[in-house]
Amino acid sequence: MSYSFASIYDKIYSLQARRYAQLLYEIIEKYYPSTRYILDLGCGTLLIEANLPKKFKFVGIDASSFMLKEAKKKKLKNVVLIKSDIRKFKLRKSFDVVISLNDTINHLLSLREIRKVFKNVKKVLKSNGLFVFDINTEESLRYYLPKKLSNWIVFSDEGRKEVLVYRKFKERKFLIWEIYYFTNNGTIKKEIIRERVYNIKEIKHTLLREGFNILEELLLKKGKVLIVSVFKLN
Ligand SMILES: C[S@@+](CC[C@H](N)C(=O)[O-])C[C@H]1O[C@@H](n2cnc3c(N)ncnc32)[C@H](O)[C@@H]1O
Repeated sequence: MSYSFASIYDKIYSLQARRYAQLLYEIIEKYYPSTRYILDLGCGTLLIEANLPKKFKFVGIDASSFMLKEAKKKKLKNVVLIKSDIRKFKLRKSFDVVISLNDTINHLLSLREIRKVFKNVKKVLKSNGLFVFDINTEESLRYYLPKKLSNWIVFSDEGRKEVLVYRKFKERKFLIWEIYYFTNNGTIKKEIIRERVYNIKEIKHTLLREGFNILEELLLKKGKVLIVSVFKLN
């Protein structure tokens, strides 16, 4: 997984990112209004950061150099970018809020890997700090299966074709995105993104085992759940 289609990513997700940013802002205002420092795991092209007030200082971590290249083009002065795997990052700083949005956690293909990330989050969260993430659950299968198979989505810009996305489920637990996109010279390239869907109970159980408390669980569209959790040091 390289996210080589990063240059057209914003065309697909801009609207969704604005909604996420608004929701996140409301959550921060409700539970941790003094928030200043936010860590974004799988920050991508910084769509979320671009839609939040400049008073926040971000550190964004992502493993894809394509996504980070697009992120840098936004020239956001309140963001520090780090190229790293979110299962392995090490930071000395601590944060008021850690976020991981728009399916990033689904890119981790086992509960063991998710647990590694949760452990890492604990290390960098301040006491009472928030961890907010979304996840495609097994409920998402109901939305995508099977009538939605062979579903092409065409995103276009000023009449030009930009990207074609084809999504399908393979086995019971994987969501496969086949993404076809037009390069600058007009050729079509393909990338496959593999996501695992999880049972929400196993995710919550793993989170609780790591010492987080769940503050809110919001059911979003298409079987996706947003979890707002808090980590309290004893
Ligand atoms: C669907 S994008 C979401 C980007 C951004 N959070 C947003 O809301 O627009 C998923 C991002 O997670 C990154 N990612 C997936 N697995 C990762 C890993 N193990 N370590 C670091 N980044 C990862 C990908 O490179 C990609 O940029």
